[in-house]
Amino acid sequence: MFSRVGAIFVVKDAGIGAIIKMMKMLVTAGPTREFLDPVRFLSNRSTGKMGYAVAKAGVRCGCDVHLISGPVALTPPDDVRLTKVVSASDMCAAVLEALAECDVLIMCAAVADWRPRVVADRKLKKESMSATLELERTEDILLAVKDRRRDNQFVVGFAAETDAVVNHASTKRSAKGLDMIVANDISRKDAGFEGDTNVVTLITEDDVQALPLMSKEDVAHVIVDRCIKMHRVTRC
Ligand code: CTP
Repeated sequence: MFSRVGAIFVVKDAGIGAIIKMMKMLVTAGPTREFLDPVRFLSNRSTGKMGYAVAKAGVRCGCDVHLISGPVALTPPDDVRLTKVVSASDMCAAVLEALAECDVLIMCAAVADWRPRVVADRKLKKESMSATLELERTEDILLAVKDRRRDNQFVVGFAAETDAVVNHASTKRSAKGLDMIVANDISRKDAGFEGDTNVVTLITEDDVQALPLMSKEDVAHVIVDRCIKMHRVTRC
């Protein structure tokens, strides 16, 4: 029905000639914040650099990119549609709303796994606070996507690990029904959070490709290139 050149679909049999459609890429980036009162929150070390680099690489490869970002101190790349979110719950709602539109979803965001069970609407005074914080699980966005995605969508997750990196990441890939997972060894000083370089392994159902130390921008290009190629081969 349709063929593809790079990130461009050429829809055939369109009646009045060919219709050209850009590949739609949905990217999430950054941390989420889970507030316990208007001042305090739980979060993580993610800066959003990897996700923003993926969004930029998507634009450079000709994709129509929608970036859903947690709170970060980065300037969004030109030509992306940006949706800003704060909590895991906000991010989940934004991803599910945009899901039907996308061909490829790349979940780079470091989504908080837990949030305070009770959120106070006024600042808590330390004297009135307990030393124990009661938590509840946040939505697992990729598990929610697994139930709603179409077969012709290509879904990628990230796994930040400190040990048994490939094993843990492979288990996550299958559990979350992902086409590919990007395993990140965050025990290395030159990889993972905050820095400008990364060392990742791309894991699919039948392939494990360890990449050397690279800039996050170069890693992003490899990931986007792989998504475009695999989506073309397996989904069209
Ligand atoms: N993710 C998600 N929803 C969450 C948490 C994470 O969709 N509530 C996504 C991340 O964006 C990432 C992948 O899932 O793509 C990471 O998998 P996950 O098992 O959640 O990793 P961790 O949170 O690191 O899990 P653990 O702490 O058990 O290692």
